[in-house]
Amino acid sequence: MTVVDLPAAPYRDPALTVEERVADLLGRMTLPEKVGQMMQFDAREDLEHIVHERHAGSILHTSPAKVLRAAELTAQTRLRIPLLVAEDCIHGHSFWEGATIFPTQLGMASTWDPKLVELVAKATAAEAAATGIHWTFSPVLCIARDLRWGRVNETFGEDPFLIGELASAMVRGYQGDGLADPDAILATAKHFAGYSETQGGRDASEADISRRKLRSWFLPPFERVAREGCRTFMLGYQTTDGVPITVNDWLLSDVLRGEWGYTGTLITDWDNVGRMVWEQKVQPDHTHAAAAAVRAGNDMIMTTPGFFSGALDAVDRGMLTEADIDQAVGRILSLKFRFGLFENPRLPDRERIASVIARGSHNDLNLQVTRRSLVLLRNDGTLPLAPSARRIAVVGPLADDAQTQLGDWAGSSGQVDWMPQGHPRAQITTVLDGLRERSGATVEYAQGAEILRLTDDPAGTFPDGQPRPAIIVPSDPDETRIAEAVALAERSDVVVAVVGDRIELVGEGRSTATLDLIGGQRALLDALAATGRPLVVVLMASKPLVLPESVREASVVWVANPGMQGGRAIAELLLGEIEPAGRLPISFARHAGQQPTYYNQIRGQHGDRYADLTQEPAFAFGDGLSYTTVEYDEPEILTPAVSAGDTIRARITLRNTGARPAHEIVQVYVRDTVTSVSWADKELKTCRHVDLAADTSTTIEIDLPASECTIVDAAGTRIVEPGEFELLIGPSSRTETLRSVSFEIR
Ligand code: NOJ
Repeated sequence: MTVVDLPAAPYRDPALTVEERVADLLGRMTLPEKVGQMMQFDAREDLEHIVHERHAGSILHTSPAKVLRAAELTAQTRLRIPLLVAEDCIHGHSFWEGATIFPTQLGMASTWDPKLVELVAKATAAEAAATGIHWTFSPVLCIARDLRWGRVNETFGEDPFLIGELASAMVRGYQGDGLADPDAILATAKHFAGYSETQGGRDASEADISRRKLRSWFLPPFERVAREGCRTFMLGYQTTDGVPITVNDWLLSDVLRGEWGYTGTLITDWDNVGRMVWEQKVQPDHTHAAAAAVRAGNDMIMTTPGFFSGALDAVDRGMLTEADIDQAVGRILSLKFRFGLFENPRLPDRERIASVIARGSHNDLNLQVTRRSLVLLRNDGTLPLAPSARRIAVVGPLADDAQTQLGDWAGSSGQVDWMPQGHPRAQITTVLDGLRERSGATVEYAQGAEILRLTDDPAGTFPDGQPRPAIIVPSDPDETRIAEAVALAERSDVVVAVVGDRIELVGEGRSTATLDLIGGQRALLDALAATGRPLVVVLMASKPLVLPESVREASVVWVANPGMQGGRAIAELLLGEIEPAGRLPISFARHAGQQPTYYNQIRGQHGDRYADLTQEPAFAFGDGLSYTTVEYDEPEILTPAVSAGDTIRARITLRNTGARPAHEIVQVYVRDTVTSVSWADKELKTCRHVDLAADTSTTIEIDLPASECTIVDAAGTRIVEPGEFELLIGPSSRTETLRSVSFEIR
């Protein structure tokens, strides 16, 4: 390819305004170059073809070697428009070998701590930026309501307020000091909007959701980050009311671009444009699909190779004008200019890589976040382990499975092909490692059970050639392994059983019909419980799972997928070196048939149970114990009557009545006593983190703007309805744990 030098071209002149540079460059581009600029390609494909023949605007899933190759190829193009290099850096720089891998988003959410989450995003951005990544597809703002869905682990849980707080923090962390910040990357709010509202938990099924319901709970976190400057939004796969989100004019034009004034970049999800043809069958071919996607205001089309000829054909046939294409391309170019990519394409930097990847401060931060993410759900007194526990039996298929511990979107989780072995084992501590290193006791291990094996889906590949996930065959209980584990338990003082799910049960297209532990794990727990030895269940599960009846009294810690420092942090918790501090960002069901179990359901159902089962979740949103007891006095309302512009203020005293310190998360919910339309019985509105030494008390004041006490009325407008309200303050969303005071909004 001939390199044409354009030293004098105005678009190369940083002294000109972005608008002038965009106009000049657009004027030089051919239509195919413009269409290619709107496209993001999978860099695992033929890179030369992508860059030279398709004039790609962006690439994703680019191996370290290919980032450099892509830059070389771009330097050979006529206009040398830099590529935007994107990756799913969801909980760390997922696919860079040896990068810091943090707990999954759901694990991070258990900290309820925006400051920590912001620091995680900042560290991730610094690691990613050094390696030539410009853009992460994170955070996920979906509300997880059906636990069968395979992507619950990628969310911040079930509550819109908590999601908004944490997502906003994560966007701040990624985007740092703005586009000039060399350690910052572009964030993506995804998947806009309602993607998680699946049918039967099945991934990407039609989201049956009204506009009012969207406005009530699903849109507020997105609105917040849109207004706060999240640079990009990704559109979900799903259809709603028959319309794919990719072409949902109401959501994209009226709400996002219109009401919220969003000027950032919109990217489709994977082959959304193609899916309209081959999956949803709402467009006859790629020409019509491309025309519809451009007209709906999409800027970047992710991995739909057929968009190229489709869009060219659509212009040729008069279904689109070149001006339509120019609008989207103009937005992409202006992002590239503002990001400074024409002056500095932000290529991998060897020195920065050496100093920033998994640097000490990132490992320390990871340990800190992981410690705070662990949720003690039940304690029969076995925890913290007594110093007299000299023989510890560590049992279970996840006690020493380093890669599974990292969860989805990390290393060998399946999205990329250049690190099949995952992240370096030496960087990861498993529970077995942690207890061996820290306990000073005799620690022995027995696997006890297998979880599953895989078999190919007889249906073959998807129509677009993508492989279908393998089918799960649960392993049968293995009597020999169980006998070994039982023998070990019987010669030990305490048993730590690490059970949960594996990557094959997690992620896109991998929703589960059951929430039970899979394979031989239930039989293993039954057998361990029958030994009568003190038993601690470490539930290392990507999402809430249901434990068998046999362990209903045992101590339980839920650790999500805790990342590289998981084993160490869990060992510290079990040994009482740290205090339990995590709180559930999502409710745990007792049975899959209870779905949904989220706490903020709408009032008005007959009764409150099934004929054969309570409706109470096993563990509720906000639950989480300490190694001490904290009591809440009756709160005092300081502002019994306010107007909508005022701040509601209340005071409450907390007493640590035990012998160990507590990290208490004081949760504040609002109940609107009577509403003009049916509404949630209570909603989280704020929270406070309080450190409380043993045997001390503290009085805190709670401030809440009355303008937060809203509902969405029948017309879809968010309003404060004057009347009686209750402020509910306590350690969990469970009504029986909350103290209540009334106030009035006039
Ligand atoms: C599809 C997923 O739904 C999305 O979350 C992800 O960012 C893209 N693939 C790119 O990997």
